[in-house]
Amino acid sequence: MGMSGLAGMADMYGPTDEAEAIATIHRAIEIGVDFFDTAEIYGPYVNEGLLGRALAGRRERALIATKFGFRIEDGKMAGVDGRPENVRRAIDGSLEHLGVEHIDLWYQHRRDRSVPIEETVGAMADQVRAGKVRYLGLSEVGVTTLKRAHAVHPISALQSEYSLWERNIEGDVLATCRELGIGVVPYSPLGRGFLSGLVPELATLGPNDYRRLDPRFSDENYSRNLVIVQEVARVAARHGATPAQVALAWLLHQGADIVPIPGTKRRSYLEANAAAADLVLPAEDLAALGALQPTAGQRYTERAMAAIDR
Ligand SMILES: NC(=O)c1ccc[n+]([C@@H]2O[C@H](COP(=O)([O-])OP(=O)(O)OC[C@H]3O[C@@H](n4cnc5c(N)ncnc54)[C@H](OP(=O)(O)O)[C@@H]3O)[C@@H](O)[C@H]2O)c1
Repeated sequence: MGMSGLAGMADMYGPTDEAEAIATIHRAIEIGVDFFDTAEIYGPYVNEGLLGRALAGRRERALIATKFGFRIEDGKMAGVDGRPENVRRAIDGSLEHLGVEHIDLWYQHRRDRSVPIEETVGAMADQVRAGKVRYLGLSEVGVTTLKRAHAVHPISALQSEYSLWERNIEGDVLATCRELGIGVVPYSPLGRGFLSGLVPELATLGPNDYRRLDPRFSDENYSRNLVIVQEVARVAARHGATPAQVALAWLLHQGADIVPIPGTKRRSYLEANAAAADLVLPAEDLAALGALQPTAGQRYTERAMAAIDR
C-alpha cells in the first residue's frame, strides 16, 4: 500500500513538530505504508531533507516519489521551469537533499508551456538511463500532454487532485491513463483536510495556513461546502468510520490503479488513513457519494489555475 503525502510536514497546514513527523514516517513503514511523496518545492528543499533523514537506514523499505519543475529564487517559487538544464540541476539537488542514490518516481510538478513536453521528458528520461531515477510521472497535465510525453518515455504515474469534492480528472484524463497503463495518484484526497470535517473556518486557521488561499475555504464557499462533508459523515456513521476514511475508501473503490496519498504529519491520522483500505462501501453508499452536490469555489486561485494543463 502507498498512502503518505508529506507536504503538510512543511508547514502548509499549521505548525509542525519534526519529532512527530519523523515518527510518522517510521510508523508508516512499520505498518506497510511505504510510498512517500515529497517535492523540491516543499520547503523548498527541507521536506526532501526531512524524508531523507527519516529514511536513513530504511531506504530499501521505502518508495520515494519527488517532483521538480519550478525555478526557485531566494527560497521562493519563481515560476515554472521545464528546461532540460533545470531537469539536470534538479535531479542532482533532490538526490543530495534526500541523501539517496536514486529516486523511485520522479514527477514534473507543473508543465512549462514555453518548453515542448518532449524536451522536458527527454531530459527526465536521460536521468532514468543514468540510473538516478526509476520511473517518471507528471502532475496536473491533460490528455494531449500525457500522450506526447508517453511517446518519448513511458509515463508511470499521473499525480493530480482527485477526491470527493474535486473530480475533474474523471472522463478523458482518467480514460487516457487507463488506455496507456498510467497509474493515477490522487493528491489532496482529503480535500486538504476539508473532507475530514475537522477543518475549522478560515478565520481560525493560522496566518500561514495554505488553505487561506484556497477559494473553496472562503467564508462563503466554506459554509456551502459543509453540506458535502455532512453527507460524507452520514455514510461514515453507517460504517463506524470517520469521514476521512470514507473519502479515502471512495477513491480506493474507483479502481486498483488509483493510489491516493493522504497527507499527515501525525501517527494517529496515518493509522486511521491506512485502515481505510479495509473499509468496504456498498453500492448505495458509493452512489450517494458519487452524487454529492458540486463544490463551491474553484480549487486554486486564478494564478495557480493558470499552471494547470488541460
Ligand atoms: N502534485 C501537486 O501539485 C500536489 C498538490 C498538493 C498536494 N500534493 C501531495 O499530496 C499530499 C496530500 O495532499 P494534502 O496534504 O495537500 O491534502 P489532504 O491529504 O487532502 O489533507 C491533508 C490534511 O488533512 C489532515 N488529515 C489527514 N488525515 C486525517 C485524518 N485521518 N483525520 C482528520 N484529518 C486528517 C491533515 O492534518 P495534519 O496535517 O494535521 O496531519 C492535513 O491538514 C501532499 O502531502 C503532497 O505530497 C501534491
